[in-house]
Amino acid sequence: MIGWIVPPPREPVKSRDELERERRQKVEWLIRHGYLRSEPIRKAMLTVVREDFIPFLYRDYTYDEVPLPLPGEQATISCPHSYPLFYEPLGLGKGHRFLEVGLGSGYGTALAREIVGPEGLVVSVEIDPLTFAFARDNLEWAGYRDIILVLGDGGLGYPESAPYDSICITAACPSIPPPLIAQMKEGGRLIAPLWENGIQNLVLLEKEKDRIRRKTVCQVLYVPLRGRYG
Ligand SMILES: C[S@@+](CC[C@H](N)C(=O)[O-])C[C@H]1O[C@@H](n2cnc3c(N)ncnc32)[C@H](O)[C@@H]1O
Repeated sequence: MIGWIVPPPREPVKSRDELERERRQKVEWLIRHGYLRSEPIRKAMLTVVREDFIPFLYRDYTYDEVPLPLPGEQATISCPHSYPLFYEPLGLGKGHRFLEVGLGSGYGTALAREIVGPEGLVVSVEIDPLTFAFARDNLEWAGYRDIILVLGDGGLGYPESAPYDSICITAACPSIPPPLIAQMKEGGRLIAPLWENGIQNLVLLEKEKDRIRRKTVCQVLYVPLRGRYG
């Protein structure tokens, strides 16, 4: 399996203004390359200050298309294009009840909070205590306080706030955890990297009245899901 090459940690030299310019350029690049199409996702990617979710020694690489390491075991913040790659097929929009499995840095969570708006709900579950603490501090610093953050096994979902319109799993699963399928609304969608024949496919599930419809989006490369269904 081909992996990612992580750039070396170094003292950041880029200014806030430079990073903000890079953010705007990245959004244009994502639109040009067909990853980013919907206005709420575009707005969220311009609003959320991604550099505030990146460990200090990797901050200059914020807008590079590479996952960067996070505190914790096997945790990474995904490359910028991954967010529209997941959220566009999910149809993430205003008022959605959204569950994320794999909080990581909290960046994708903050984007989701912006997209669903005050009428929506965001729940995110992280299994690694160090990663969880890093994300919680990032979200607090960035002013996102109306998110339910859960330290635990996201494979079990979060039944307390179910059912969900949208579920996003940000770690590669051997199979989709059944509790997550149970916690989808009828008409709801779930997106996840799924191991199949030695590769990971990004799959989109849609729950209909009496069946689950499935579509493969593309091939991806994610850290493995841990816990009961990992
Ligand atoms: C690719 S990272 C998430 C990136 C995140 N979306 C972001 O914006 O930074 C995947 C995360 O899933 C977490 N994870 C793995 N298995 C998990 C599980 N069973 N429940 C919850 N989180 C899990 C990992 O610890 C890691 O933080």
